[in-house]
Amino acid sequence: MPYRVLDQPHSQRRKWRIICVGAGASGLYLAYRVEQRMKDTELVIYEKNSDVGGTWLENTYPGCACDVPAHIYTYSFRPNPKFTSYYAGNEEIEEYFKDFEEEFNLRRFIQFQSTVVKAEWKDDEGIYEVEIRDAQGNIKKDWCNALINCSGVLNNWKWPDIPGRTSFKGDMVHTAAWDKKVKPAGKKVAIIGIGSSGIQVLPQMQKIASSVKVFLRSPVWITPQLGGLGAESDSPVPDDKPIITDILLRGQQPFKFTPEEVSMFKQDPELLLTLRRCMEVVICSSLDAFRVGSPKQILVQQLVQKQMEEKLGDNEELKKAIIPKFPVGCRRPTPGAGFLEALVADNVTPVYAPIDCFTETGIKTKDGVNHEFDVIVCATGFNIGFVPFFDLKGRGGISMREAWSEQACCYLGIAAPGYPNYFTPLGPRGPWGNGTVLVALELNIDYFITMMIKMQTQDIKACEPSLKATNEFSQHADEWHMGSVWNQNCRSWYKRGGENSKPYLWCGTTPSYLKTQSTIRFEDFDYEYLHGNRQEFSPATFNPDLLTYFRFAYIGNGLVGADYLPMKEKLDKLVPYLRLSDTPWEIE
Ligand SMILES: Cc1cc2nc3c(=O)[nH]c(=O)nc-3n(C[C@H](O)[C@H](O)[C@H](O)COP(=O)(O)OP(=O)(O)OC[C@H]3O[C@@H](n4cnc5c(N)ncnc54)[C@H](O)[C@@H]3O)c2cc1C
Ligand SMILES: NC(=O)c1ccc[n+]([C@@H]2O[C@H](COP(=O)([O-])OP(=O)(O)OC[C@H]3O[C@@H](n4cnc5c(N)ncnc54)[C@H](OP(=O)(O)O)[C@@H]3O)[C@@H](O)[C@H]2O)c1
Repeated sequence: MPYRVLDQPHSQRRKWRIICVGAGASGLYLAYRVEQRMKDTELVIYEKNSDVGGTWLENTYPGCACDVPAHIYTYSFRPNPKFTSYYAGNEEIEEYFKDFEEEFNLRRFIQFQSTVVKAEWKDDEGIYEVEIRDAQGNIKKDWCNALINCSGVLNNWKWPDIPGRTSFKGDMVHTAAWDKKVKPAGKKVAIIGIGSSGIQVLPQMQKIASSVKVFLRSPVWITPQLGGLGAESDSPVPDDKPIITDILLRGQQPFKFTPEEVSMFKQDPELLLTLRRCMEVVICSSLDAFRVGSPKQILVQQLVQKQMEEKLGDNEELKKAIIPKFPVGCRRPTPGAGFLEALVADNVTPVYAPIDCFTETGIKTKDGVNHEFDVIVCATGFNIGFVPFFDLKGRGGISMREAWSEQACCYLGIAAPGYPNYFTPLGPRGPWGNGTVLVALELNIDYFITMMIKMQTQDIKACEPSLKATNEFSQHADEWHMGSVWNQNCRSWYKRGGENSKPYLWCGTTPSYLKTQSTIRFEDFDYEYLHGNRQEFSPATFNPDLLTYFRFAYIGNGLVGADYLPMKEKLDKLVPYLRLSDTPWEIE
C-alpha cells in the first residue's frame, strides 16, 4: 500500500470506548479521572455487586479494619478528616468511597449486578468483545477499545479445600462474605485460618461466643501495628508539631481519636497533611526490615518474637505451633492487637491437629477427634492468581489463565505482552508488601489514561508491552528479591499461594514504585497503527519486521484542530504559546 497523507487535522481524536471491570477504589478513581482528562470517550463500568466499594463493601466481618493508619488509606489528594480511629473500621472506609462516588456522581458510569465473564481480543477490529452476565443469568455482549481490569486481587474469596462442607448443618460463614443473620453470641464457634482476617475476627468472637476453637495450620508472625512510631525511632515529625508525635506514638496500638482531634483535623488541613506525610514516611522508611539479615530485620524479628513469647506465657505447645521459622514479613505482616491475648483466653482453644473433614455437627481432625460447633467461620482468604477471574483471551485466542499458569508475565504489574489495550492496576509486582496501595493505583490509572489518550489521538489501534521489556523487568525484580524476606520459605498469597514460587511484589519502596509509574517508558511498548499494512497474527509465524505501519499518519494534512475554529476562538486555541508568563500550553 503506497503512503497517503490523511485528510485530517493533526492528532484527530477518534471516539474511544472503555470497559472497566469493577467499582472498588480503582474503578471509581478511573471514572473520576476519565471524566476529568479524556474527551470523546465512553466509559462503562460493570460491577458484579449492587453497590460500589469493592473490598470494603464485601468485608464486613466483626473486627474488620484497615491495618495501615486510615489517614493514609485515602486517595492521595482527598484526605478524610472524619475518620474516628487511627486504624478505621470497614464501615468508615466504605463510607469514604461512597462519598467520593456521590460527590462526582460516578454511579452514572456503573452497571451493577453485572459480572464480566469473558473478554476476547479481536485483532481485525482492534477491540475486546466482552460478555457480561446480569442478575438473571442473561448474557449480554459489549465491546471496547481498551479494557481496564479493576476487579481486585483480593476479591475472589475461597472456602477451604476441606471435604464435606455442605454436610455441616450449622451456620458456616466466610469472613469476606459475612452474613449478618448469623449470630455467634453465646454459641460454640470455630475459626479456620489465622491470616489478617482471622486475627481480626478472633478477638471479637472471643468476647461474645461461649467457646471458640481456632484451627492453626501454619505459623504466623503477630506484629505490632505497622503505622505507629516506636519510642526510640528516628522521627520525621517537625519540632514544632509535638501533637503529631503524640498521635504517632499512640498509633502503636489501635485507638480512637478524641472529638477534639477530629475537629482539629477538620479545621487545620495543613496539620492533617503533615500528619499524613509523617505516617507515610514512617512506613516508607522500613524497607531495611524486609532485607534478609539486615540489622533492622534482625532487630524487628527479635522484638516481635519477644513480644509473642511474653503474650503466650508458658504455653510452649502454642509457641511451637504459632511462632514461625521464616522471617517476619515473608507472609504479609499481621498486626494483631488483641489476637494473642484472645488466643490464650479461657474460652478459646487452639487446635493443632490438621483438619480431616467437615461433619454434620462440626469438624473432624486427623487425630480422629470430632469437634462440635454451632458456627464455623472460614477466614481462609482468597484465590489469588494475579489473573482475572473472567476468561481473558488475548492475541491468537490465548487465555491469560493458561498462559500464566506457571508464571505471571506482566510488565510493571500493569500490562501484559499478548494482551493489547489491556491494563490493570495493582497487578503482579504491585507494592502490596509496602503499606497502603491507594496512591499506587492512582498512578497506575493515570498511566493508563496517558496511554489511552496517545492511542486515541495518534491512530494507534493496539499497543502492548514487548516481551523483551517484560522479561528484562522480571529479571531485575527477581534479582532484587533474592535478598528480600518475601522470597523466603513460607506459603503466601504474594507468591500466588505457593511456598517456593517467586513473590509478585514490587522491588523497592512505594516512592520507588511511584517514580517508576510516573515516567512512562513508551519505548517498551509495541504499537500497531490504524493505517498501514499488516499480516495475520499467528504465534508461530508472526514476524514484526514485516509490518509496515504509517506511524506518522496522525500528523494529517498539515493543519491542527484549531485551524477549523472561527477566527476569534483561534486566539486561545491556535496560538496559546504566546503568553504573559511561563504557564503550560497546548494546541487544540
Ligand atoms: C479485608 C481486607 C482488608 C484490607 N486492608 C487493606 C489495608 O489496610 N491497606 C491496604 O492498602 N489495602 C488493604 N486491602 C487491600 C484492598 O483490596 C485494596 O486496598 C483496595 O481496596 C483494592 O481496590 P480495588 O478497587 O483495586 O479492588 P476491590 O476493592 O477488590 O474491588 C474490585 C471490584 O471488582 C468487582 N468485580 C470483581 N470481579 C468482577 C467481575 N468479573 N465482573 C464485575 N465486577 C467484578 C468486585 O465486585 C469489586 O467491587 C485489604 C483487603 C482486604 C480483603
Ligand atoms: N486489615 C487489613 O489490612 C486486612 C484484613 C484482612 C485481609 N487483608 C488483606 O487480605 C489478605 C488475605 O488475608 P486473609 O486473612 O483473608 O487470608 P490469608 O492471609 O490467605 O489467610 C488464610 C488463612 O486460612 C488458612 N487456611 C486456608 N485454607 C485452609 C484449610 N483448608 N485448612 C486450614 N487452614 C486453612 C491459611 O493457612 P495457611 O497459612 O496454612 O495457608 C491462613 O491461615 C491479607 O494478606 C491482606 O493483604 C487485610
